[in-house]
Amino acid sequence: MLEKNCLLTGATSGIGQAAAIALAKEGYRLFLVARNPTRASATEKLIRLKSKSAEVHWLMGDLASLDDVRNIAVNFLSFDCKLDLLFLNAGVTYNARTCSQDGYEIMFAVNHLSHFMLTHLLMDKLVEGNHDTRIVITSSGAYRFVSGLNIDDLNAEQNYNSIKAYGHSKLANILFTHSLDERLHSAVTTKRISVNCFHPGFVGTNLGTQTPLGKTIMRLIKPFSRSSAKGADTGLFLALEESIENSGGYYFNRKKKQLPSYANDSEAAKALWEQSCRLASLTPID
Ligand SMILES: NC(=O)c1ccc[n+]([C@@H]2O[C@H](COP(=O)([O-])OP(=O)(O)OC[C@H]3O[C@@H](n4cnc5c(N)ncnc54)[C@H](OP(=O)(O)O)[C@@H]3O)[C@@H](O)[C@H]2O)c1
Repeated sequence: MLEKNCLLTGATSGIGQAAAIALAKEGYRLFLVARNPTRASATEKLIRLKSKSAEVHWLMGDLASLDDVRNIAVNFLSFDCKLDLLFLNAGVTYNARTCSQDGYEIMFAVNHLSHFMLTHLLMDKLVEGNHDTRIVITSSGAYRFVSGLNIDDLNAEQNYNSIKAYGHSKLANILFTHSLDERLHSAVTTKRISVNCFHPGFVGTNLGTQTPLGKTIMRLIKPFSRSSAKGADTGLFLALEESIENSGGYYFNRKKKQLPSYANDSEAAKALWEQSCRLASLTPID
């Protein structure tokens, strides 16, 4: 089998860990982003237990720091290998308004901006070569917690509501998928490249369990949740399935879903792209 490389964020827990195990079994060489060495080491043991031949490289960094995101990209590029699959999955929820190391609202920063920046820094890798390239983004049905992108308050400084701020970051995942699809397909004509996002369903993971209350709530509702493997399934389908020709879509249970107009809004997606470039001090790519 030809070597395939995957860069995955949020591999140390939940949906990302399940995806990493599945991709190792598929023979992918894994480049896994993590912020916590202990959790990285435990995850690597698990991956090796399930797939003895796994090749795992850790790209250590905190996605709440744009400097760390830059280092993660530099570290990956130093391997000088092709990139077949970029799986942008890491995510957080917070109750109280919290800022990233760069002063941005943390859910917007980790769930969207870090992934936007990482993609931007890896753009040359994504478009080079003739091999198929897939980009998969873990969004959420929580995008429905908001009724549109608030471009004037991406940093959630006014009337902070944690549920809405999380929903807003997940809407940003969808709008980013939309813009990235448009831009990639106007730039790349010589290879197959797809970018899609998905909702994993309600999955019993560590999400939201940083607080004692969150931990208790997750313990109570976990029996009604999906396993992490089931949560990762649609993402893996988008990553692996030969028949995926479409790009720019939002999927749930392996099916493309219709989105309300505010989540399918090219103008909002363009504004988010431009503003994200500014916030991450990136030169816009047309
Ligand atoms: N669980 C659900 O029901 C559900 C539903 C819809 C969408 N989602 C989405 O699914 C994705 C995965 O979430 P999950 O449910 O699997 O949650 P999880 O178990 O908490 O896993 C989140 C992953 O993201 C990593 N991460 C968080 N903040 C980070 C940071 N600042 N820097 C680097 N890595 C960071 C975590 O690392 P650590 O191990 O160091 O914490 C962990 O590996 C998220 O995007 C979430 O929004 C989840």
